[in-house]
Amino acid sequence: MSPEFAPKYLQEEEILSQECKQLISTLPKEKGWIASHLYQYQGFWYPARHLQGIISCQKHFQARNSDIFLCTTPKSGTTWLKSIIFTLINRTRFPVTKNDHPLLKNNPHDLVPFLEIKLYIDNQIPDFSSFPSPRLFSTHLPYVSLPKSVQECSASKLVYLCRDPKDIFVSIWHFSNKLRLREMGTNSIEDVFDMFCKGISLSGPFWDHVLEYWNQSKENSDKVFFLRFEDMKEEGELNLRRLALFLGCPFSIEEEESGIVDEILKLCSFDNLSKLEVNENGKLSSGEKNKAFFRRGEVGDLRNYLVPEMVEKIDEITEMKFNGSGLIL
Ligand code: A3P
Repeated sequence: MSPEFAPKYLQEEEILSQECKQLISTLPKEKGWIASHLYQYQGFWYPARHLQGIISCQKHFQARNSDIFLCTTPKSGTTWLKSIIFTLINRTRFPVTKNDHPLLKNNPHDLVPFLEIKLYIDNQIPDFSSFPSPRLFSTHLPYVSLPKSVQECSASKLVYLCRDPKDIFVSIWHFSNKLRLREMGTNSIEDVFDMFCKGISLSGPFWDHVLEYWNQSKENSDKVFFLRFEDMKEEGELNLRRLALFLGCPFSIEEEESGIVDEILKLCSFDNLSKLEVNENGKLSSGEKNKAFFRRGEVGDLRNYLVPEMVEKIDEITEMKFNGSGLIL
């Protein structure tokens, strides 16, 4: 675990504005998984530097009717769905089978930027003039903390991707250990397991995050599309067609006959993306190596790491939290 693997938010408190320092001094604080601390804001947990980006995007971001937002908790497959949505929406401008497709040279995080942890980070005010329409954004914000203009914009679309919390937990545990500085040591799985179960994880509590979007998708199915990582793995073609329909760009008969659905899934597959030079050796501007976002990309890796009591505990929390909601993960 080399120090250059560490993202910029490890520097956290040193680079915060006075306003943000003042705010975090009033917030509940816990030990962090990667940065030294997490702070609880509007019911969810964040490192200080992310919090500054959240406040700024809540203040300044103006949604448009044509905007598309991918909303996730960390490690639910954001990188994958960014690549799929980008390819789907831009399939005329960037034909999928061309050998100069942007995904072949760019990490999906550079093609679909995060609002709070990229565009508005460090008190930046982004310039959107070069963004083609529809604008594609991503966020780890829970529904309650989305900028008001996103919640109120009647025609913009939100795609929510969720994943089995046991696989998410294993994935964040690995990710956090890759990003910690050598002198910080590694997180033991037992230490962070208790934190995850208490809801103290990046953008956690996981269950509250999922439930908010689930309820929104039931109330307003034209605006919020709810998708599971596992369903995307199992029935990629079906779910890609549903996604295209939801986003207002269904596949034509000619496209179906040309095999484009399968081509998109192949281009965005773990096997294909993880082996590209840009994802093996590139880096994000925020400091993370691109390869940190590609580990195994499978369903059920929990079996290799969690003892039966851990599985039982997460399943119990999931059952208790989702009871009566109709949501099954
Ligand atoms: P694992 O750690 O279980 O392998 P996020 O993008 O939200 O940070 O999530 C990262 C997780 O998605 C990692 O899970 C990663 O391997 C997996 N992933 C990345 N690209 C993928 C792809 N194209 N297909 C399936 N899973 C992918």
